[in-house]
Amino acid sequence: MKAWLLYEQKPIEENPLVMEEISKPEIGSNDLLVAIEYCGICRTDLHIAEGDVPLHKKPVILGHEIVGIVEKAGKEVKKFDVGDRVGISWLNYTCGKCKYCKNGKENYCINIKRTGWDVDGGFAEYTKINEDFAFDLTRMKISPADMAPLMCPGIAGYFAFKLAEAKEGSNLGLIGFGPTAYYITRVAKNMGINVFVSTRGEEHKRMAKKYAKWVGNIMEEEMPEKMDSIIFFPPAGDLVEKALENLERDGVLVLSAVSMSKIEIKDYTKNLWGRSIKTLYQVRRDYGNEFLRMVNEMNLTIPKRIFKFEELQDAMKIMKRGEFKELNAVLEI
Ligand SMILES: NC(=O)c1ccc[n+]([C@@H]2O[C@H](COP(=O)([O-])OP(=O)(O)OC[C@H]3O[C@@H](n4cnc5c(N)ncnc54)[C@H](OP(=O)(O)O)[C@@H]3O)[C@@H](O)[C@H]2O)c1
Ligand SMILES: [Zn+2]
Ligand SMILES: [Zn+2]
Repeated sequence: MKAWLLYEQKPIEENPLVMEEISKPEIGSNDLLVAIEYCGICRTDLHIAEGDVPLHKKPVILGHEIVGIVEKAGKEVKKFDVGDRVGISWLNYTCGKCKYCKNGKENYCINIKRTGWDVDGGFAEYTKINEDFAFDLTRMKISPADMAPLMCPGIAGYFAFKLAEAKEGSNLGLIGFGPTAYYITRVAKNMGINVFVSTRGEEHKRMAKKYAKWVGNIMEEEMPEKMDSIIFFPPAGDLVEKALENLERDGVLVLSAVSMSKIEIKDYTKNLWGRSIKTLYQVRRDYGNEFLRMVNEMNLTIPKRIFKFEELQDAMKIMKRGEFKELNAVLEI
């Protein structure tokens, strides 16, 4: 099969990914061999390619927003048949035995394996997955290309939304309007929550205005009301206190980035006292399935741009330059 391999981390302009012909993955008795149709491209792929986070496997195939068709099933597989459509997310494996798994917090599993980081991912013609970690997409009415971004910004965004504890009629602020914020905006609006979006770009402002009660930029102005909860996406720690200034005294702030510059709270009593700060840590299958049921009913899709398999590295360069008009890039395999 053809696959994009990462041997050595370096800036995307220096083409760290190489396309090679390698053998198809060997499957175990509980695994599915998946012929990949689409794989979304995430900012995390860029972080791994460029060395912002360490390599966990060498070489590695990146990509964790996978949609494909089961081509072969291991002897013990019970939930899927050949021909079924499945989705694969960042969460490739959890042990089910550690104290976190036993307490329903598999996102904290000490033996976790992440797709496209600890094990090979979706920028290839085939991949494999233990059946317990494949999402069943066979009965979804959304197109396969539109389902790929559900696997990362969708599922992760929904987890951040759950952490925010937003209720019908409450005010939810979103700082930064990337693909994750887009999904949260759509789901929250559908649930009768008032969404307030802080974003810098004109294109993002235009998109957010379709669904949000208020769109502005907290770097330049205050939100018109205090927020009951805020979900924060930029990796910019110096903006965190600004977000807190817009939060109710008993509000919840959810930080969703995987890495962040230094956070400094200068006025604890005014801006932090009483509020809670939480962080988004990986993803969970239970919330993933709940989210998929919800978006299927809503027929929810995201503005996306499709690239050919050979164009992966060009797409990642465009993503780095921030030149997408659409919110998500999807590779057609
Ligand atoms: N914790 C986890 O397990 C987990 C899982 C999945 C994703 N994530 C993280 O969630 C975050 C959001 O994901 P995403 O896919 O939506 O990516 P994204 O497009 O990078 O979202 C971040 C948004 O923040 C804004 N922003 C970026 N840099 C900024 C800066 N210096 N100052 C102010 N605003 C800035 C931008 O919005 P505007 O241009 O609209 O202002 C940008 O679209 C990413 O950091 C990703 O790593 C975490
Ligand atoms: Zn991702
Ligand atoms: Zn575990």
